[in-house]
Amino acid sequence: MLAEAQTVLHTWCRQSEWAAPTITGGRGAHLFTDDGRSILDMSSLAECSNLGHQHPQVIEAIRAQAAKLCFVTSAWGAEPRARLAELLLEKSDLSGGRVFFTLGGADANEHAVKFARQAAARPAGWVITRDRSYHGASYAAMALSGDSRTAQQVDAAAYRVIHVPPPYAYRCPFKTRSAEDCGTAAAARIAATMDSQGAQQFAAVLMEPNAGTNGIVAPENFWPALRELTRTRGVYLIADEVMSGFGRCGEWFAWQRYGLENAPDMMSLAKGLTGAHAPLGAVVVAAPVARLLEEQALLTGLTYSGHPLSCAAGVAAIESYQREGLIERSRALGATLLRALQELQAQHTIIGDVRGGHGLFAVVELVRNRDTREPLAPWPQLHPGLRRLLKEALDAGVSFAARGNLILLAPPLVIAERELADALNLLGRLLGPLAQTLRTEESS
Ligand SMILES: Cc1ncc(COP(=O)(O)O)c(C=O)c1O
Repeated sequence: MLAEAQTVLHTWCRQSEWAAPTITGGRGAHLFTDDGRSILDMSSLAECSNLGHQHPQVIEAIRAQAAKLCFVTSAWGAEPRARLAELLLEKSDLSGGRVFFTLGGADANEHAVKFARQAAARPAGWVITRDRSYHGASYAAMALSGDSRTAQQVDAAAYRVIHVPPPYAYRCPFKTRSAEDCGTAAAARIAATMDSQGAQQFAAVLMEPNAGTNGIVAPENFWPALRELTRTRGVYLIADEVMSGFGRCGEWFAWQRYGLENAPDMMSLAKGLTGAHAPLGAVVVAAPVARLLEEQALLTGLTYSGHPLSCAAGVAAIESYQREGLIERSRALGATLLRALQELQAQHTIIGDVRGGHGLFAVVELVRNRDTREPLAPWPQLHPGLRRLLKEALDAGVSFAARGNLILLAPPLVIAERELADALNLLGRLLGPLAQTLRTEESS
């Protein structure tokens, strides 16, 4: 058989540099390689395997559904599709709403925007999103994203998307001094952007409510402010919960942290929806939007919308989060994670900031100088020393994810406390040599 490195186009990398081991199985927070190693997964792969790898109930549900019915289009009903929609509306407290199923996060975001424009009767309505955000890699999703990797590939304005500065408190684009002020300033910029053109020109604001894959954790006042300013201006608010949903931020959906009064008009889901056991995304629309769409033709579709195998996986995933108390577990372990990272920060000046920890998602931001906050490397570059740290961790059996100067910690919600503690101890041991590399660099 030809090696995968020679035949497959792999994502987000130079093909000639792809040299990953083959994974043959997994259990809990561990992945197994074909050369017999067991690797502790500290990122849930792409922040998606929230239930851990090879969750037995999800596997059984897929098996049972496959034996019964693999596929019908959404021109026909399918039991697991109906059940999953019902569960999602229940868990999100958006009863009276409706669910549109997609294949992943990018197409969920695209459809959320379509629905917002249709329901608002503003087919060319502008959409506001953030710099330093990621919403997917299809063309419209790249336009929505404020991501350095994809920004040059698309003309966002042609998709009627406007980007605004993010509520990035550690490096606040508004030069504020507190996280709260940064949240206020970021929200005020969105209001001003709408007001300068007239709010009726806008269909939606689409943002991650709490934590994002680009490493920003919004200050606590940001989402409620966003809800208020969109509501008063009659513009829809779409929560991208693709990464932050299903316990990642300590709630079923991250916006729930801010209470039902701050519910979005729509939310996009994927990843944890099946714990990545099968590809599936969704747009959940709240009741008022559902009512507006009720009597209009929905001129969109995906062959695999609401695929029964994926929906069966989704139902079993939700039942497993619930039965195993994983949402609450993520909240409790997230606090443990944050405390442990703060202890590491007290020991290592190379850690400029730690944030997150509302659930099992936290960010460590590395700096050259804690006083000046000089980044380890210019964003979005990965410092060679950090690359080495990741390699050494992997050799020691732990897989960490990094973006630029950020180490993103997002282990499966089933990770054992001992495993989490061991991984963080390893990280602590590896940060010392990284700091030493920097000192050598600076003295030479
Ligand atoms: C917040 C967010 N939105 C959307 C996406 C895109 O999802 P997908 O890769 O399933 O298209 C991602 C993927 O990383 C994400 O993190």
